Amino acid sequence: MALMKLFNSDIAVDLGTANTLIMYNDQIVVNEPSIIAVNSFTGDLVAIGRKALEMHEKTPESIKTIRPLRDGVISNFNAAEQMIRGMIKMIYDGKKSLFKSISRMVVCIPYGSTEVEKRAVRDSAEHAGAKELYMIHEPVAAALGIGIDIEKADGSMIIDIGGGTTEIAIIALSGVVCNQSLKVAGDTLNKDIMDYMRRNHNLLIGERTAEKIKIEVGAALSDLKNPPADMKVIGRDLMTGLPKERSVTYSEIANCIDKSISMIEEAVIKTLENCPPELASDIYSNGIHLTGGGAGLKGLDERLEARTKLKVRVSENNLQSVIQGTGISLKKLKQMKHLLIK
Ligand SMILES: Nc1ncnc2c1ncn2[C@@H]1O[C@H](COP(=O)(O)OP(=O)(O)OP(=O)(O)O)[C@@H](O)[C@H]1O
Ligand SMILES: [Mg+2]
Repeated sequence: MALMKLFNSDIAVDLGTANTLIMYNDQIVVNEPSIIAVNSFTGDLVAIGRKALEMHEKTPESIKTIRPLRDGVISNFNAAEQMIRGMIKMIYDGKKSLFKSISRMVVCIPYGSTEVEKRAVRDSAEHAGAKELYMIHEPVAAALGIGIDIEKADGSMIIDIGGGTTEIAIIALSGVVCNQSLKVAGDTLNKDIMDYMRRNHNLLIGERTAEKIKIEVGAALSDLKNPPADMKVIGRDLMTGLPKERSVTYSEIANCIDKSISMIEEAVIKTLENCPPELASDIYSNGIHLTGGGAGLKGLDERLEARTKLKVRVSENNLQSVIQGTGISLKKLKQMKHLLIK
């Protein structure tokens, strides 16, 4: 029986702007940043995932790092294919003889992906070895992964804040009834922080430092109940060109990302306004589910609660809800065919 299981080479993939996760045999076997490093001259793969991220913004001329996705969709087709292929390889390292190829693969895609964007996913998955490919919309996968019974007529509202996109959806009877998708998400906040540090502290910092600042002292409110301690940040002084240390407070970071958070907030309001009244009453009783990496931002649930007057819950598995749901759709492929896109 165990051997049979090894032969079953069906996988679920959450191909995210920031992170790619793969589920195989009901387990998350790959959880890596969506980045590769290649030789600048030959294009050969040098590193993938975490190892490539370590090189990011530190590379000599002979190596360049590439993030194959931007704003939730594939922006560099060849790099995406190399990345998917390499990450699939990570699963079967050591058990090559048993794991020859991928038979079925489910990949999630943003709701509202264009035909061209879907084709890019389809082509890169097929080039990476998938024989039968299905796609599922991310908010639907997130809802399944959170454990919501999406078949019911009872509506649920999901906000998934990733690296490249924020997807807001109201789901009922296995379908998306209202949706707003915006390109304001984790990467935007990192950029806000980089701009702020340059303008207000005369300090140049890279993407990874900005992300550390966001996770450690980033906040959606400038008056948190449990404020984090100030953070020491090292960057390059714009005036002297030399490394310099600065201390930043959570409230200054809250102020510098406030505009972007407001945009997410307004999209949430717009989705609620477009929602049919019967579903609005469901959302009123069920509240809102907040998921994706961005759901971890301090004070965000509280801010959205204050704005919508609805209960906002951060899902426990916020960084894994989409892959869990994609995995469920793969496992119940026959029953869930109506949710899947060929
Ligand atoms: N505690 C935290 N506070 C704020 N942001 C966080 C936290 N933890 C992770 N993030 C951010 O969440 C983002 C990654 O989330 P996730 O893995 O859900 O994105 P993704 O699925 O790769 O992207 P997308 O769905 O947009 O394609 C990154 O921008 C990361 O900086
Ligand atoms: Mg995502």
